[in-house]
Amino acid sequence: MEHMWTPLILLQLLLAAAATAATTATTAGCRPSCGGVDIPYPFGIGVGCFRKGFEIECINNSPVLAGTSLRVVKLTLDPDQSQVMLPMGWQCYNASDPGDTNSNWDYGETTMNKDGVYRISSTHNMLVVVGCNTLGFTASKRTEGGTANYAYYTGCMSYCNNSASAQDGLCDGVGCCRVNIPPGLTDNYFNFREFDHSSMMDYSPCDYAFLADRNNYTFRRSHLKMDTKRSSPVWLDWAIRGNSSISGDIPSCKQAAKTDQYACVSAHSDCVDSINGPGYNCKCSNGYEGDAYLPNGCTNIDECADPAKYPCYGVCTDTQGSYDCNCRLGYRSHDPRTERCTEKFPLAAQISIGAISGILVLALIIFVYVLRKERREARDFYRKNGGLTLKDAANIKIFKRGELKAILKSHNLIGKGAFGEVYKGDIDGALVAIKKPIGDNVHENKQFPNEVIIQSQVMHRNIVRLRGCCLEVDTPMLVYEFISNGSLEDFLHKDKSKLLNLDVRLSILQESAHGLSYMHSQTHTKILHGDVKPANILLDEKFTPKISDFGISRLIAKDKEQTANIIGDMTYMDPVYLKTGRLTDRSDVYSFGVVILELISRKKATHSDNNSLVGSFQECHQRGETALKLFDPEIATTGNFEILDKLAKIAMECLHLDVDQRPSMTDVAERLLILHRSRKL
Ligand SMILES: *[C@@H]1O[C@H](CO)[C@@H](O)[C@H](O)[C@H]1NC(C)=O
Ligand SMILES: *[C@@H]1O[C@H](CO)[C@@H](O)[C@H](O)[C@H]1NC(C)=O
Ligand SMILES: *[C@@H]1O[C@H](CO)[C@@H](O)[C@H](O)[C@H]1NC(C)=O
Ligand SMILES: *[C@@H]1O[C@H](CO)[C@@H](O)[C@H](O)[C@H]1NC(C)=O
Repeated sequence: MEHMWTPLILLQLLLAAAATAATTATTAGCRPSCGGVDIPYPFGIGVGCFRKGFEIECINNSPVLAGTSLRVVKLTLDPDQSQVMLPMGWQCYNASDPGDTNSNWDYGETTMNKDGVYRISSTHNMLVVVGCNTLGFTASKRTEGGTANYAYYTGCMSYCNNSASAQDGLCDGVGCCRVNIPPGLTDNYFNFREFDHSSMMDYSPCDYAFLADRNNYTFRRSHLKMDTKRSSPVWLDWAIRGNSSISGDIPSCKQAAKTDQYACVSAHSDCVDSINGPGYNCKCSNGYEGDAYLPNGCTNIDECADPAKYPCYGVCTDTQGSYDCNCRLGYRSHDPRTERCTEKFPLAAQISIGAISGILVLALIIFVYVLRKERREARDFYRKNGGLTLKDAANIKIFKRGELKAILKSHNLIGKGAFGEVYKGDIDGALVAIKKPIGDNVHENKQFPNEVIIQSQVMHRNIVRLRGCCLEVDTPMLVYEFISNGSLEDFLHKDKSKLLNLDVRLSILQESAHGLSYMHSQTHTKILHGDVKPANILLDEKFTPKISDFGISRLIAKDKEQTANIIGDMTYMDPVYLKTGRLTDRSDVYSFGVVILELISRKKATHSDNNSLVGSFQECHQRGETALKLFDPEIATTGNFEILDKLAKIAMECLHLDVDQRPSMTDVAERLLILHRSRKL
């Protein structure tokens, strides 16, 4: 069991050593202190523990300067000072012979300085002379050269008029005087002039002279009779001063650094020339602390652990020889070591930034919401408009709104009417006309997809081809092939200078009739146009007619008749249909009759003049006359009369008020074909 203690004890010893080493740096194995006074190197107790001249003896647990009896009160490296108790100088008068001190005196001479290490601090000490009739002085530094024996003399005079003259706390020449001392004082002694004390032996039998702390001596009247054995604490400046025995060896930092005696051996140490006497001192560099006279004696200061001495209002980080002090993120200070860190963005700024970003986020949310709403609406419209039914229809393309967006611009607008607007554009290299209805009453939504499917199935050279539609809008848009030469209406009535010979007119009539007849009979559901008129007969570049605008056309089952309200152009409207409200294929025949009349007369039929065009032809017809005057002069040549008359007759049949007397569209088409062929023969 016993040997188990050994490591523990060793450890304790090591810890103790470490603890003391932390307070006072010494060379290994040297006493770090004596009597409560730290003894840092170059001072030291015992052989090998001190630099020459810096020996301290520890006698009865009391440190004294080696070779003297001068007690050391304090030793510090920085400032480079020691406080030592020095004896006073005094002289006392003999009551039997008050004019003479005989041998009753002590000059308080000290020889503490055989190696020249110490100088009496001129900045911390003063000379005090206490006595009621005396001139006291100190002399220092024996010299061979000067007129006197010493290099320095200084002192002061004190006098008391009577026993009550001296005042506590006042040391201004009454019972006490004081004087500053010059730098450079070393070993010194005190002396006095002798004055007759016979009248004052009871209150001031002695004179005293001593050095005292400049800031820590207060005169009391009782001091006029104090104990002559008293000593007083005196500040000494010490330095590495070289060897005064060797003349010229008075090193400054510059000179000393070159020698092997250089004392500032620690890393991170600086040399400072002594301010009191020759020589130099060593200090740890800024940011380091410890003993600059020992190798590695200077250690880094953890400034952050001592905020009182090294203030930091931010985040403190210790570094070698210094420390960093920075404000936290988001805070700033002109100098965080001296000024508090304040928030970079004051509350007002934070609030406004917060508000702005809040608004931005809100705007984003609204934007996304609107976008999604639009998409949803587009989807809803698509569904409502029968997109699901139409999706699978083979001949029809369902356009996305975005695909048509570029075309639906005002500069592409080519027509405008009660039905809506027509835009011309280019999709995948093909010209198209997009019909964009106005309002939402044009299509009944349930019927719309069927209608679109049926129309898309109509493939006829005389019917404008429906290419597709767009369902993602409230009212679906229809996309047709674009027919380049405009409508028959425009051609006939807008510019009469454009000529149109009978053959072309015949061809237009015949082919239009063919298209309508196809719709009436050859598609598997009967499609009525409901609004046949020149404006709805478009012409391509070869004047091939194409019937357009099924915008109001209705489909009906082959055996059912349409009864829905259809609003067409009154000019071309079958009066029977107007009366009964029942649309039949014969209503389209009626309208076509009006178209024939317009084409052969090149006159515009108008509802407002009671349809005088129709009326005029009917009058002629009833009189059995050929309506020569009514024909367009361009074609009303002798050779054409017969054929024009035949055309007028067909028109009259179409316009018959008895629906059953009207021919079917197929009849009309056939008869026109025969007429047309007869021309070619
Ligand atoms: C004082 O002086 C007298 C006469 O000169 C002498 O006898 C005596 O010893 C002196 N006293 C002291 C304390 O020196
Ligand atoms: C000086 O002392 C004498 C005798 O005690 C006294 O009469 C005189 O008033 C004193 N003078 C001052 C200025 O104190
Ligand atoms: C002043 O002197 C007294 C007595 O000598 C001592 O106890 C005290 O510590 C000194 N004060 C300072 C600030 O040196
Ligand atoms: C100074 O030099 C003398 C003579 O060389 C020597 O005896 C003495 O020890 C030296 N003192 C110091 C403090 O080096």
